[in-house]
Amino acid sequence: MRAILLAFLVAGPAAAQSFDPVYEAFSHPRCANCHVENDVPLWSVDGEIVPHGMAIRAGESRMGIETLPCETCHRAQNAPVQGGAPGAEGWALPPPEMAWSGRTATEICEQIKDPERNGGRTLAEVADHIVHDPLVVWGWAPGEGRAPAPDTPQALADAILAWEAAGAPCP
Ligand code: HEC
Ligand code: HEC
Repeated sequence: MRAILLAFLVAGPAAAQSFDPVYEAFSHPRCANCHVENDVPLWSVDGEIVPHGMAIRAGESRMGIETLPCETCHRAQNAPVQGGAPGAEGWALPPPEMAWSGRTATEICEQIKDPERNGGRTLAEVADHIVHDPLVVWGWAPGEGRAPAPDTPQALADAILAWEAAGAPCP
């Protein structure tokens, strides 16, 4: 609480309570390419967002069990060659209700605080998920040739808590 108050005093009310930094991270390709509603993950190729090559489908399992499991190629670590499959433990798509790729800041803001669509989490638990989940943390260490998510996991978790402390207003 004291850290939040300090951040509020230093950065001023607009920066401390805004959803902007949270949106900036969630909408970044490293965080949006998996958060899709259908079962086709996305690739970023030369700044364009395109469907995953090789006709990959995640299926109802969201892990490709029905066809070709994600973990066949996506191992626990990034492949050591550029253009190889990135990796982290448990590579899979989130369930469809956690999709936000292509959505507006207002839409993402509303769903992030809706327990029906965020895995039944409080905002403190969402912030905790950011610093502990291997797939989320991967977004800041995506390997050669891939732009990392903005700032750091801790900065994003802090931004979520500061926004919550301000009443979690949506843009
Ligand atoms: C490899 C695919 C993948 C990537 C990349 C990924 N996620 Fe996720 N994400 C998942 C999966 C799977 C879940 C569901 C896990 C669960 O609920 O326990 C999830 C759940 C979440 C949740 C909890 C649900 C919610 O709506 O609050 C948050 C928050 C989240 N991810 C944020 C991020 C952020 C931020 C990034 C980028 C830094 C990111 N994710 C990158 C696969 C991914
Ligand atoms: C046959 C191997 C293979 C399988 C199976 C596979 N992928 Fe991939 N995937 C790749 C390769 C290679 C890349 C890197 C492409 C690039 O960035 O040029 C990649 C990249 C990705 C990316 C882009 C990450 C980013 O933000 O840059 C996502 C998301 C992804 N895969 C999700 C999945 C999911 C989810 C599954 C399972 C449903 C899956 N993949 C199955 C080979 C595979």
